[in-house]
Amino acid sequence: MGSLAQRKRLVTLGKYKEAPEFPKEFFLDLTSFCNHSCVFCANPMIKNKTTMQEEMVHRVFQEAYECGVTDIGLYATGESFLVRKLADYIAFAKNIGFSYLFITTNGALATPERAKPVIDAGLDSIKFSISAGTRNTYKKIQGRDDFDLVLKNLRWISRYRDEKKYDLKIYVTMVYTNETQSEVEMLESLVRPFIDEWDPHELTNQCGNMPENNSIGDIRSENPRGRGRRRVCYQPFKGFTVTPEGTVSACIIDYSRDLVVGDLNQSTLSEIWEGEVYKNFRRRHLTRNLDGLICHNCMNNAEEPVDPLLPEYKHDYRDRNIESSADATIDGKEVYFDEISEMNRDSD
Ligand SMILES: C[S@@+](CC[C@H](N)C(=O)[O-])C[C@H]1O[C@@H](n2cnc3c(N)ncnc32)[C@H](O)[C@@H]1O
Ligand code: SF4
Repeated sequence: MGSLAQRKRLVTLGKYKEAPEFPKEFFLDLTSFCNHSCVFCANPMIKNKTTMQEEMVHRVFQEAYECGVTDIGLYATGESFLVRKLADYIAFAKNIGFSYLFITTNGALATPERAKPVIDAGLDSIKFSISAGTRNTYKKIQGRDDFDLVLKNLRWISRYRDEKKYDLKIYVTMVYTNETQSEVEMLESLVRPFIDEWDPHELTNQCGNMPENNSIGDIRSENPRGRGRRRVCYQPFKGFTVTPEGTVSACIIDYSRDLVVGDLNQSTLSEIWEGEVYKNFRRRHLTRNLDGLICHNCMNNAEEPVDPLLPEYKHDYRDRNIESSADATIDGKEVYFDEISEMNRDSD
């Protein structure tokens, strides 16, 4: 499948027009729950976290395959290792015929017990997000004392991959802030022996959702997230993200659901892809008419008022609250998200 850089180039190449061909790749956000609460991430502020229903997961896989999709990222705003059926979903998708299934994870739950079935099911690549080079800083940045555990999980997966001679690619990314910039090389030297590629990332404003990140790092005014510094963002032309509620968003980092372009509970994937809402939105990108859209804030590192594309799907935020992240252990025993979401149903 080539290097990460080759993949990124392939994804951004293509025709920028109102009605592009159906994409080869999309993201399926299985859950918005997360067990961490990274300081630079909007996830801990999401109020109504949820997990995709199994029937919806199966339906999206089937429809996407029929539309010609080959690659799926099984994550977006949450932590997919909290999903009990992750391995089953990967096996299901592989059985349908998808060629490349990939995941980005904080890795704390990628323990041998949980990671083995996921890898055996046919995952093609796994990217660990580790946003510090020391245990103390990690705890401050990611909100949990999981640095040693994550490195242990990474080493185990690397060994298991080699033992089984699987063609699984293993990557590590690190988002750095002012505080952690000096730890980038430190982390790189810790993980290099176990990975195929090292992929550090600049801090962003999370596509306009985290303007407060300007106080913890340098964010380019031409936000690098996703658009490779092109004048037109590639995301609305090259893909979409299915949210855990079963809506379709034009952007992978749409915590606020400002860019929902359709609802799979009412329409099909291709109806949404070809629909007027998505087409009008693409037209606004092509004509640089982005005022009032979160895209303006994303691309210009601004904090202007935003009108959602479909206001009925807009998500509210609460104040950042570390306790709002899902604890994946109870009484020292690992649990999956559905037990957690049951417990949190009232408070969320
Ligand atoms: C939102 S997370 C979801 C998947 C999983 N929970 C994880 O952390 O990998 C996806 C990726 O976005 C990155 N990310 C989160 N906030 C970011 C920010 N403000 N700037 C740049 N990358 C960010 C994370 O480090 C991670 O690699
Ligand atoms: S691990 Fe961190 S970056 Fe990933 S979704 Fe959770 S809070 Fe956000």
